[in-house]
Amino acid sequence: MSVHSEIKKITTHVLQNMKFQDEKISMLTAYDYSLARIIDQAGIDVILVGDSASNVMAGFETTLPITLDMMIYHASSVVRAVERSLVVVDMPFGTYQGNSKLALSSAIRIMKETGASAVKLEGGSEIQESVERILSAGIPVMGHLGLTPQSIHKFGTYVVRAREEEEAEKLIADACLLQKTGVFAIVLEKIPAELAKKVASKLKIPIIGIGAGAGVDGQVLVLHDMLGITQEFSPRFLRRYHNIGEEIIGAVGQYIKDVKNNDFPNEKEQY
Ligand code: KIV
Repeated sequence: MSVHSEIKKITTHVLQNMKFQDEKISMLTAYDYSLARIIDQAGIDVILVGDSASNVMAGFETTLPITLDMMIYHASSVVRAVERSLVVVDMPFGTYQGNSKLALSSAIRIMKETGASAVKLEGGSEIQESVERILSAGIPVMGHLGLTPQSIHKFGTYVVRAREEEEAEKLIADACLLQKTGVFAIVLEKIPAELAKKVASKLKIPIIGIGAGAGVDGQVLVLHDMLGITQEFSPRFLRRYHNIGEEIIGAVGQYIKDVKNNDFPNEKEQY
């Protein structure tokens, strides 16, 4: 039984206490009411309305096309479902980079129109001004370093980041800067486990990993990937807890057969 399982509402302060008390933080994505309700009831600590909705929900190849309006639609659906988890919303590409006033107005729209508790932004020193301005309005910010999918056209590939010393040092410096600026937690994506562990032990705020090994303060996965709803994405870090995609194919196949054979509906299933 976890130390915080009796907590009625997860806040950023609860997450900080989890780090102090050595309790790992569990985080998953969700983009809609029904699945958010289920994973909240299952006891997940943090629900991320990730801009991975761009891939998973809208079928785009990258996270770049999703808009603020689309994110607000997903996030408000999730918030309506959630009682206990902390809901964090990704700020989509083009709503905060290089313009801190735009960043603040985008973050305010997210908070006002969704009822979420925090926003997440990708990047380090390049976005510090935006982070500062959002924080100045009392909006909690989660950082995201390492593989930052909104910069895919700069990286060129989705391979592991920060293997080289120079990039690793920049990542550590960015993590320290984000902590100093006031973010309440940082996601580290697809970086060497040793580096992620070093960041987690150096920083006081929770560090949540995806493809960043076990030495961090919590883990996040994309819900549709870990449930096997998406089938084509299988990086090394992804543990599949279910294969719901195949179960759905089986159930739908059976339904089609029943309809075609006139086995559905039966006597009891009609008025
Ligand atoms: O958008 C997303 O789902 C994310 C996670 C991969 C951390 O940012």
